[in-house]
Amino acid sequence: MKVQYLGHSAVLIEDRDVKAIIDPFISENPNCPLKVDGLRDITHIFVTHGHGDHLGDTIEIAKKWNSIVICNFEIGNYLSKFDLNVHTMHIGGRVEFEFGKVKMTQALHGSGIYNGTEIICGGNPCGFLIEINGKKVYHAGDTGLTIDMSLLKDEEIDTAFIPIGGNYTMDIDDAVKAVKFIRPKAVVPIHYNTFPVIKADPLEFKKKVKETKVKVLSFGESMDL
Ligand code: NI
Ligand code: MN
Repeated sequence: MKVQYLGHSAVLIEDRDVKAIIDPFISENPNCPLKVDGLRDITHIFVTHGHGDHLGDTIEIAKKWNSIVICNFEIGNYLSKFDLNVHTMHIGGRVEFEFGKVKMTQALHGSGIYNGTEIICGGNPCGFLIEINGKKVYHAGDTGLTIDMSLLKDEEIDTAFIPIGGNYTMDIDDAVKAVKFIRPKAVVPIHYNTFPVIKADPLEFKKKVKETKVKVLSFGESMDL
């Protein structure tokens, strides 16, 4: 399984016949090395919440590749107006796809969808536990630190993607606590250095995490899992 970090919270996961992207913030993402046109054959799109830096280019990509968009009910309802292939679920729900199980986890954040004129209700924000062909990935979405993350240690997560940028989400010190709760085998910091207000040093995070391997991926970098 190959994982590519596209900057901000955007993560591309490829394995056999699955090509999934989480929070496809591509065209407006100053750190993304790809253009929307550079993405091909996307089978699934996971959307953690309705904010523009996560919903991103979902509509364009899903239309082009007929991708299944996996998101909460409210965002799914909004996206269905664009005639997309949507699978809605909600927090706590776990469902089996052809590649493995997906569980929607909670996140402490907002989820309003800005349509250019007004904010539309985007339900609750979430994170995802995604099993692909036996490997388990956790993408926290945007969230503050919550003690409920300690429930995730039973999931035996291979790689966790967690925000460290502060201001809108956990900062480095809270993310270090989150790793203690989640206890993944490896952790990748995300949601930093896209905008001045979320400036953070991923190497400081790496230094502060003692019990888990931290993999700092540069924007566009891939790793095998
Ligand atoms: Ni957000
Ligand atoms: Mn965000």
